[in-house]
Amino acid sequence: MRRSRRFFALLFIFSAFFTPLGFFYFTIVNESNQFGFSKSTEERNGYQTSEVSEPTENVQVDFKKYSEYECSRFPSNVTNDYPECLNKMKWIKNGWKTHSCYSENHIDGTNCSFRYYLSQVENYCPMMGENTKQMKSLAKMSPSIRRLLPIFDGIPHYMKTRINRLWKKWKEGAHEVMEKYSESMTNRKKLNVLVFIGFLANEQKLKLAKKSDHGGPLGELLQWSDLLATLSIIGHHLEVSTDKSSLKSIVWKYMSRGPCQFLNGSRQQLDIIFTDIMGLNILRQHHRQFLMNNRCRIRLLDSFGTHAEFATKSYFLQNKRKLSGPYSQRNPWGGHGLDLRQHWTFYPHSDDNTFLGFIVDTEGVEKENQKKKTSIPSALIYGKEKYMWMNAEKPIRMLKKHVKVHATVADLEVDGMSNITSLFENVQNHGFLNSREISELLDETTIFFGLGFPLEGPAPLEAMAHGAVFINAKFEEPKSRKNYKFLSEKPTLREWTSQNPYMEKIGEPHVITVDVNNETELEDAIKRAIQLKPKPFVPFEFSPSGMLLRVALLLEKQELCEKVSISKRWPPVTEMKIFKTEKANDSCEMTCHSLNLICEPSFFPIVNSSPLLKRELSCSSVSSDSSPFAPFNCTVQLSASLFSCASRPPSSSGIVRLCPCRDYIPEQHAICKKCL
Ligand SMILES: *[C@@H]1O[C@H](CO)[C@@H](O)[C@H](O)[C@H]1NC(C)=O
Ligand SMILES: *[C@@H]1O[C@H](CO)[C@@H](O)[C@H](O)[C@H]1NC(C)=O
Ligand SMILES: *[C@@H]1O[C@H](CO)[C@@H](O)[C@H](O)[C@H]1NC(C)=O
Ligand SMILES: *[C@@H]1O[C@H](CO)[C@@H](O)[C@H](O)[C@H]1NC(C)=O
Ligand SMILES: *[C@@H]1O[C@H](CO)[C@@H](O)[C@H](O)[C@H]1NC(C)=O
Ligand SMILES: *[C@@H]1O[C@H](CO)[C@@H](O)[C@H](O)[C@H]1NC(C)=O
Ligand SMILES: *[C@@H]1O[C@H](CO)[C@@H](O)[C@H](O)[C@H]1NC(C)=O
Repeated sequence: MRRSRRFFALLFIFSAFFTPLGFFYFTIVNESNQFGFSKSTEERNGYQTSEVSEPTENVQVDFKKYSEYECSRFPSNVTNDYPECLNKMKWIKNGWKTHSCYSENHIDGTNCSFRYYLSQVENYCPMMGENTKQMKSLAKMSPSIRRLLPIFDGIPHYMKTRINRLWKKWKEGAHEVMEKYSESMTNRKKLNVLVFIGFLANEQKLKLAKKSDHGGPLGELLQWSDLLATLSIIGHHLEVSTDKSSLKSIVWKYMSRGPCQFLNGSRQQLDIIFTDIMGLNILRQHHRQFLMNNRCRIRLLDSFGTHAEFATKSYFLQNKRKLSGPYSQRNPWGGHGLDLRQHWTFYPHSDDNTFLGFIVDTEGVEKENQKKKTSIPSALIYGKEKYMWMNAEKPIRMLKKHVKVHATVADLEVDGMSNITSLFENVQNHGFLNSREISELLDETTIFFGLGFPLEGPAPLEAMAHGAVFINAKFEEPKSRKNYKFLSEKPTLREWTSQNPYMEKIGEPHVITVDVNNETELEDAIKRAIQLKPKPFVPFEFSPSGMLLRVALLLEKQELCEKVSISKRWPPVTEMKIFKTEKANDSCEMTCHSLNLICEPSFFPIVNSSPLLKRELSCSSVSSDSSPFAPFNCTVQLSASLFSCASRPPSSSGIVRLCPCRDYIPEQHAICKKCL
């Protein structure tokens, strides 16, 4: 077993050099058993991407040429740019004796050695001379799949297949992004990144991952696959764990290292930890101290996003009745007390959170694909399981009237003939299809038809990438935690106006959003969809180059651990535009969006100022409060954890909020124009 696995790993390395990419896919698909889960893979210790050994940077240690007096003098305004410098200088005078890593970094008790350490090894103080260099190794773009091979042993078959299938696209994306955005992509720090896929470490959920080969929920696995590919290509040092024992050895390795950021030129500490809610719970139970030390480094994969009201336990508990509907007053997925920007989402749907995303599978799509002209118009129903078709008789009858209807329902045969069969009469059901088969089917499809569930899956983007028109089910009354069971325990008050609000904004010719239960409207929409014949389209943020650019920039620039001087913040504070909400119950998000901007949570602390409130809302005096609406009329925010782009005051309150907005690159919401 073990030997054969090694053999296939070697085969991969060979094929990386000598064969076109199609071959990877072939070998992986045919060896699915070889790569499946087995006891021995789960017990293996931490997977780690192989690193080509790099020469460590030679940093000159030439601080002795300065006088002690020079080394300890700073301009009076030093705290503007280096807010922690003076405190660190004070601390290190005795603090350097607490661990041998300081003396290994050349600290010898002199002011100049302190200054050298705090400016060149760490980043707290200004450098001494013009020519001194910061010690940092740089991340290099590495579009070779070989870096990921050691990881392939420990991840589900679906993820390996996806990474291989899309590798050619990733490579093209890497070249594209280097060509167009070379300045942003070079000169980035090389980070130590831990990826801990918690839901795979949770044994009961393992079944779920296995099921993904037969039509189970794919969203999480799909996003993890794309994240791993991205992190590897943008050149960070990557450690991946999918089980508790390998997590433990990684945690111990980093815990046993000293507090210094560098030792002999190599980076010592973890910079970023990607995990999910189950992973966070495992860290909390088994590695409490590690989690406390690294709290600000967590990036939580959180598909639907988290709003301020649900992020801290205490606020939710005090307000749970107001924040819930009839189905549940629980908050099982929230209450982690993280900064909202540490929640990374599936779609760019909540300005309070950070957009991670995924890429759209366009393998096999021709640039100018034209639907086969001879074929009669057809529709593919979005819904891989029978229950999603419930209450869909009317719309499906209407579809059958105009087009040939296809389905990919995997569980149709399970309980034999029942009253559901009339629904499937004249429907060509293909059963479970793999990615390649879906892609082929979409190439022939005129209409991709949504029935209202699942919410915000990746499939509509894929259909659009194949030139199909997505008919998006509109919700006459928006669905939310307060009125829809599926959302009733999600940590967000977001209101879904349709099955996929992101697609709704894209609109025609790619998307028609319509009440599928209104026969006249639906019939119009179907007729129009047949005429539209859109070109294949993928928004930049869902392309490989878009995702590489976004993740590279976010990891390099989004700073959640250290105090950063105003002039060095990212997004730059100069990009801030302040507006007041207009309607009584508007959120800041709504206000910014109506101006083609987005709300930028990192600017809230700047907007939260009494003088500004006095000026903008003509207050004579200003009070303070812990409220997700603050800053608003004459009230500043007391709790930083409650700053919220999304919160909507009740209409009767008469509250006017102050909102910090910024622009964004078209089709790349996470990045402002000056953020590159
Ligand atoms: C070293 O720095 C401290 C304060 O930062 C200062 O008081 C001391 O005089 C400096 N030593 C020398 C030799 O200049
Ligand atoms: C700090 O003062 C120096 C001159 O002493 C000036 O050149 C620099 O621009 C100032 N920096 C800030 C951030 O004000
Ligand atoms: C760093 O280098 C010093 C001397 O060059 C050596 O004694 C020490 O073991 C090295 N530390 C590590 C962690 O490699
Ligand atoms: C089948 O019919 C029964 C009653 O006639 C109904 O309760 C059930 O929900 C139906 N099943 C489906 C899947 O429509
Ligand atoms: C269906 O839509 C049409 C046109 O928008 C509207 O006039 C009609 O009232 C709607 N019917 C129902 C039952 O909602
Ligand atoms: C917002 O206010 C408008 C009118 O001011 C009202 O029609 C609407 O129902 C309100 N929405 C919410 C969610 O309170
Ligand atoms: C908030 O300020 C606006 C504009 O100054 C004003 O119209 C509104 O009445 C104020 N609301 C409250 C609750 O004070």
